[in-house]
Amino acid sequence: MKPAATPDLGSPAPCLGVFDSGLGGLTVLAALRRRLPRARLLYAADSAYAPYGERDAAYVIERSRVLTRFLLAEGAQLLVVACNTATALAIAELRREWPGVPFVGIEPAIKPALAARGQADGPVGVLATPATLGSDRFRTLLARHGADSPVLLQPCPGLAEAIETRGPQDPATLDLLRDLCAPLKAAGCTRVVLGCTHYPLLAEAILRVFGEPAPQLLDPADAVAAQAARLAGELPGCAAAAPLRAWSNGDAQLLRRVAAACGIAIDTVLPLPEASPVSA
Ligand code: DGL
Repeated sequence: MKPAATPDLGSPAPCLGVFDSGLGGLTVLAALRRRLPRARLLYAADSAYAPYGERDAAYVIERSRVLTRFLLAEGAQLLVVACNTATALAIAELRREWPGVPFVGIEPAIKPALAARGQADGPVGVLATPATLGSDRFRTLLARHGADSPVLLQPCPGLAEAIETRGPQDPATLDLLRDLCAPLKAAGCTRVVLGCTHYPLLAEAILRVFGEPAPQLLDPADAVAAQAARLAGELPGCAAAAPLRAWSNGDAQLLRRVAAACGIAIDTVLPLPEASPVSA
């Protein structure tokens, strides 16, 4: 789809709902905005229920169903699960429950990280939540693309939570990041997969931690946006009342600041309503 120069709010445009456990999905939202400048984007940040990455599947499925239901009620025609953990643990359930709705998920970029690996390259490091790395979906991904390759898996407990509660620039967040990256740096990783949508918010800090030679960081946000744009091209479109709306049950100011750092201007952050649990 050829992007228009300026948003045209009058004519039909696709409406995409995007959700994450909190701020991380803003990194995907920014890629979607670049790919689909005319689309109506609805973003739900579930910060009050973050982190997902240290919870069990039942919890993540329940929260994902609540957010999906909310975004569909707001008019979303396609759902982007902008969270590796929710994709790993919940997207299959969402697809089962809403068979008519297109869902696009995100998963760690193991395949591209290994595809162009040369003789001189070090191991591939993967930073992700404990829940993502422990999931069947991730095990299958790794077995398919990285069974005989040197891949170092680094679970990052506490990192998404630190970003949510303290912000990506906070010294304590950066101290934790340094500790978590240390094994990958010591092993000489030349590529690092950012397997949680919160971690691209720390991209510069990760490069500072590694120093020279700088590893290549792999963030699949643009590939996800490209896939969503392909599917959105098949939607009938809706009248785009506003180009971008966000809801959060966490710190709205921090969300606006982080969005601005990702290149997205969010003026209004509405309170994400508390929904009664969705029963199976
Ligand atoms: N941003 C999410 C991910 O991509 C989850 C972070 C969390 O809530 O633990 O995995």
